[in-house]
Amino acid sequence: MHFKRDTCRVCLSKELTKFSELGPQPLANAFLTQKMVEEGKEERFPLDLYVCHRCSHVQLLDVVSKETLFSHYLYFSTVSRTIPAHFAAFAKEVETEHTQRGDMVVELGSNDGVLLSAFEGSGRRFLGVEPATNVSEAARKRGVPTMNRFFDMESVTIIARDLGKAKVVIGNNVVGHIDDLEGLVKSVKHLLTPDGVWIFEVPYLVDMLEKNEFDTAYHEHLSYFAVSPAKTMLERGGLTLVDVRRQPVHGGTIRLYAKHKEAGATPTPRVAELLKLEKDLKLDTLAPYQAFDARVRKLRDDLQKMIADLKRDGKRLVGYGAPAKGNTLLNYCQIGHDTLEYVQDTTPVKQGLLTPGTHIPVVPPEKFAHDNADVALMLAWNYEKEILGKEEAFRKRGGKFLIPIPTPRIV
Ligand code: TYD
Ligand code: ZN
Repeated sequence: MHFKRDTCRVCLSKELTKFSELGPQPLANAFLTQKMVEEGKEERFPLDLYVCHRCSHVQLLDVVSKETLFSHYLYFSTVSRTIPAHFAAFAKEVETEHTQRGDMVVELGSNDGVLLSAFEGSGRRFLGVEPATNVSEAARKRGVPTMNRFFDMESVTIIARDLGKAKVVIGNNVVGHIDDLEGLVKSVKHLLTPDGVWIFEVPYLVDMLEKNEFDTAYHEHLSYFAVSPAKTMLERGGLTLVDVRRQPVHGGTIRLYAKHKEAGATPTPRVAELLKLEKDLKLDTLAPYQAFDARVRKLRDDLQKMIADLKRDGKRLVGYGAPAKGNTLLNYCQIGHDTLEYVQDTTPVKQGLLTPGTHIPVVPPEKFAHDNADVALMLAWNYEKEILGKEEAFRKRGGKFLIPIPTPRIV
């Protein structure tokens, strides 16, 4: 169920340095029932960030089995408005810039099918590959053909045999979840047509470091990509990184484009620009990671102090959103049920459960709407704009948000 690897998952070097210890932590999406808490079976695993000396890839070495993490999944892409809008634009780009009628688009980690559903009626063939049974079913219900299994050489061979090769392979917020990157790149290469393109999004390490987004670390996220190690990963598997574009979602993301090496494509200047940025930030040395860790410790101290002050003033605190990252933050900062009365979350499957490690009840938004809490700790800070927009009534009657990232502040 859990093992510790001793090599970099991009370049296989054994020289890695640990620069941040955020755990031991429970699994960030393992919301639990009261009964499970009483049985005391909740497990914790180290949550330590390492950087590779050879290729500078930032990663966890503690690996929780993918069957444990991804067979039943509590994250649904459609829980915000921001992400469906982002994916609609993404699908439009794939349709107009990268495919023609009759081409096939395959998405790995297709979740509830929100992205692929945009191809309905476009004349493109499309297929999702998604290991979680519950979200696969949600995808099928909305008419997105979905293979309920892990994306690997076996599934790719079946797809290529039965449906042919894919002009575009998509993989958003999933590459960082995969331990065997070598196998992943090989499988994608096998699935792509000779002129096909693999387009995938990962949270960008530069944003994570600059904005102190330590809470985006949890056991599902094995890799924290910069462009440089991503390029190394692709090249080792016979692909070329041909383009990269920064995106605002999930606290700062990069969208990468890779093609068969044999296609001979010339990378856009954006690739060189971001490689230069990473060099300028000295991401190939230890210094920026150690500085990040120091800022994260300070953030924890500052947040704890702000919360203690609010409590002393008799304020009632609750949590807003119960994202996986919120659980890293709550556990690392030791913010528990004695501090937050509840956390509200719009995801029906999370409601009625308790947060991992801190055991705070998750309640539906209606409770928060009628409750006159004083301060809401915004755990889903990546939707700040969307949330501030929709919670005007709370703020009008004097409610405040405490936004923890990049540095704790009250609005
Ligand atoms: P998200 O930040 O997308 O993901 P992760 O779990 O990867 O950290 O999760 C956002 C969570 O916040 C999700 O559980 C839904 C919840 N949420 C609300 O409760 N209200 C809102 O208005 C929004 C935008 C999200
Ligand atoms: Zn490496």
